[in-house]
Amino acid sequence: MSKKESFGSKFGIIAAAAGSAIGLGNIYRFPCEAGANGGGAFFIVYLGIVLLMGLPLMVSEFVIGRRSGKNPVGAFKALAPASKSWSGIGYMGVFCSFLILAFYCTVAGWTIDSLGKSIINYYHGLDKDTILADFNGLMNETWQPILSEGIFIFITAFVIIKGVKQGIEKYSKILMPVLFGILIVLAIKSLTLPKAAEGIGFFLKPDFSKITGKVLINALGQAFFSLSLGMGVLITYGSYIAKNDNLTSTAFAVCVSDTLIAILAGIVIFPAAFTFGIQPEAGNELAFVTLPMLFDKMAGGYFFCLIFFLLLTIAALTSSISLLEAPVLFLTEELHLSRKKATIYSAIATFVLCVISSESLHDGTPLKIFGFSVFSALDMISSNFLMTIGGLLTILFIGWKMKKSDFMDEYTNGGTISMGLRKIMYFIIRFIAPVAITIILITQFMK
Ligand code: TRP
Repeated sequence: MSKKESFGSKFGIIAAAAGSAIGLGNIYRFPCEAGANGGGAFFIVYLGIVLLMGLPLMVSEFVIGRRSGKNPVGAFKALAPASKSWSGIGYMGVFCSFLILAFYCTVAGWTIDSLGKSIINYYHGLDKDTILADFNGLMNETWQPILSEGIFIFITAFVIIKGVKQGIEKYSKILMPVLFGILIVLAIKSLTLPKAAEGIGFFLKPDFSKITGKVLINALGQAFFSLSLGMGVLITYGSYIAKNDNLTSTAFAVCVSDTLIAILAGIVIFPAAFTFGIQPEAGNELAFVTLPMLFDKMAGGYFFCLIFFLLLTIAALTSSISLLEAPVLFLTEELHLSRKKATIYSAIATFVLCVISSESLHDGTPLKIFGFSVFSALDMISSNFLMTIGGLLTILFIGWKMKKSDFMDEYTNGGTISMGLRKIMYFIIRFIAPVAITIILITQFMK
């Protein structure tokens, strides 16, 4: 077998992993969660969760991936050869990647659709009700969503087929700086709007009375989703990280950029919403209905609307690339398919599930699970449930199953970087993170 590919540079690793993390979750899910759940107070809780649970779990996934050099299933098999059940975490992750991809590509399809509309200046002069009716109409269409989802999945597969260095890394290194640049331009524009201060106040003013058990689980779900944790995607990327890379600093850089982008997104959204007197709560409607309408009222609106949807498309793309890479690596390593075949099969499977997900949004559709559309069910099952459990099991694996000496050997690059801080990280992984995740999970059921 040919030697396994790896990322070529530190910036490449960070761009790819941050590309996975930074996605639709940051741009329009985080601001809405924060705004509705106590603003700055939510943010403080969120930061705590990122540091105490997100970062240690990210380090754990990287260690598992790099130590084994394998896909999520193969990784657990290699690291715990005697007890087969651990590879269940890997299977769950690969399976869950598909579920997330399906609803993720549904939303990405709307993004492509809106990008097309903003290119032809379709939104110009339309009022909110018309854009809303149009968006609801899109949900009930059959072919238009299928077309835009198809385009999106095709582009994702195109990058994956090219491989790790020439595909994932190369495109992440271009797209992530573009994404950051667009967000800065939008943030500056937003901050110059008349009610910017009021909007930022709503976004960041802490209201601790809103922090309940439910908010904690929301913050945990948001953090895991946003950081792409708990489903083996970062194990996959970890297997491409060079042996001499410092895993703590890489994981830290990814957590910081992910959080920074989420805040910047809030800085874009809230001043605009307040200036035009909109309650910034509903997620999809905010991004696909309210914002195009708001942009149209601003000077230079055509340009800002266009780059906003470009931003959403890029954010979605680099994340879906990572989600598709996990099953592709699984198929190449465990079932010995070529990369090309593995990509084509996975892309087709994703496309089918994605079409079911988007068709489940038609009025009166029979495509329902426990009364929810397949689309919402996929979101809920994967984000609230499978991801958190996957994350908990992964961290338990590192803390309690893998030998401490093996973990430390990998984590300190064979003893070449210092142990000190890494002992604290091990303590968090072994005791604090699993207890905290369990408590938050239990609180969810007490509500
Ligand atoms: N992190 C992405 C976002 O914020 C979504 C995502 C990409 C993801 N890859 C993932 C979520 C892997 C969980 C697991 O939008």
